[in-house]
Amino acid sequence: MRIKIKGLTSDHIGQAVTIKGWIRSVRSPKNFSFIVVNDGSNFGGLQVIADETTQNYLAVLADLTTGAAVAVDGILVKSPGTEQPFELKASSIEVVGLCPADEYPLQKKGHTFEFLRTIAHLRSRTNTLGAMTRVRNALAYATHTFFQTRGFVYLNAPILTASDCEGAGQMFQVTTLPIDKPPRTDAGAVDFTQDFFGEPAFLTVSGQLNGEMYALSHSDIYTFGPTFRAENSNTSRHLAEFWMIEPEMAFADLQDNMDVAESYVKYMIDHVLKNCGDDMKFFNSFIDKGLLARLEHVLSTPFQRVTYTEAVDILLKATKKFEYPVSWGCDLQSEHERYLSEEHFKKPMIVTNYPKDIKAFYMRMNDDNKTVAAMDVLVPGIGELIGGAQREERYDFLIERMEQMGLAKEHYAAYLDLRKFGGVPHAGFGLGFERMVQFATGIENIREAIPFPRTPKHIEF
Ligand code: 4AD
Ligand code: MG
Repeated sequence: MRIKIKGLTSDHIGQAVTIKGWIRSVRSPKNFSFIVVNDGSNFGGLQVIADETTQNYLAVLADLTTGAAVAVDGILVKSPGTEQPFELKASSIEVVGLCPADEYPLQKKGHTFEFLRTIAHLRSRTNTLGAMTRVRNALAYATHTFFQTRGFVYLNAPILTASDCEGAGQMFQVTTLPIDKPPRTDAGAVDFTQDFFGEPAFLTVSGQLNGEMYALSHSDIYTFGPTFRAENSNTSRHLAEFWMIEPEMAFADLQDNMDVAESYVKYMIDHVLKNCGDDMKFFNSFIDKGLLARLEHVLSTPFQRVTYTEAVDILLKATKKFEYPVSWGCDLQSEHERYLSEEHFKKPMIVTNYPKDIKAFYMRMNDDNKTVAAMDVLVPGIGELIGGAQREERYDFLIERMEQMGLAKEHYAAYLDLRKFGGVPHAGFGLGFERMVQFATGIENIREAIPFPRTPKHIEF
């Protein structure tokens, strides 16, 4: 029976095993071949040694090319080299899928990430994308373990929605109306009563509003799903489709929110350091030399907690020249966020109590009437990793905010009901999963932190 390469241990030495995977490299010095086979289960794959005693060897020799899929039976033996603890002495080898060497785009030499994006269907076979995929998987596992062991209920929030949670107008519209000739009202506007849902519909930017609804029945919930933003920002930290984890907690305030956010981030880092050793060593050696030291430091130090007002004071006193000038009331740009966490505090930080005018309508108004109970977690190398808040649970305050911001109350009737029927203080946040992958691996561009990135003008694969 086939065994995944990761599952091989020194206990298997001397035993017959079968492995299957794709050839990463082949060297055939004389009458034998060294073949590195990778099945995706670990970083290094397994070295296979085939020679004339291997059944089929001569028949398939010419087909043993990089990228070909093979099935190998053999005996696991202790490796004479120091690079790996054991290797497979092949008793038979079969080429399951040919891979013509003159056409296969992944050759041994390193490729740029830009080039690899053009072959996203094959790039998961490279060291970096292979390791990213495993670390991403481990972060997802850690996410579920963290919340499940704390009694949070996993909630699937809808992807199709009629409401704009963040109120930023960055939604992708979904319609079945013919876009070249939509039906029109007498006044000439597009008649959405004839659209699929009878009203305009969009891809969600956040599951939060639905999350709040279930927090008010199940106390603690979390979502983990895709979210969509039609923001035309071509940066190394923005995607049009990204995954977000959104916990929401009833009977919780901003302090509780910060505590959960900090424990969650640390839990994920601890998990990948303990479970993705080879992948993390690779990232530390080839992608970001300071990675492991930085992550260990993150684990061992409390996140710095400052208010927005304090953060602005620090920025005003900084000798560094910023492209965007700072003053109280301005939104923090990524250069400001990175200065604070990378150069000033040199660790993750949580900025709280932002001016109400730069934050979403649902955030709880502070007693000063100028700031809201918001929190952003900023981390070195990335900037904003988490955005969250204590929610406005007071009906009158919420109505007033919505009116000030010009939001149509009828769109949020259910949301307002929650403030009438057993409303309680509650809080939550959203963590951008790809930014977490970047933070954990040192990967510079978010396009390498997700299997198939969607960015402006890119939806191939
Ligand atoms: O700060 P944001 O917009 O907050 C919300 O959506 C809230 N509803 C969350 C909540 O309180 N439940 O987004 C949350 C996080 C950001 O901190 C960032 O990490 C990530 O989502 N994010 C993006 N990641 C990749 N590409 C984009 N375009 C992103 N926009 C936000
Ligand atoms: Mg935000």
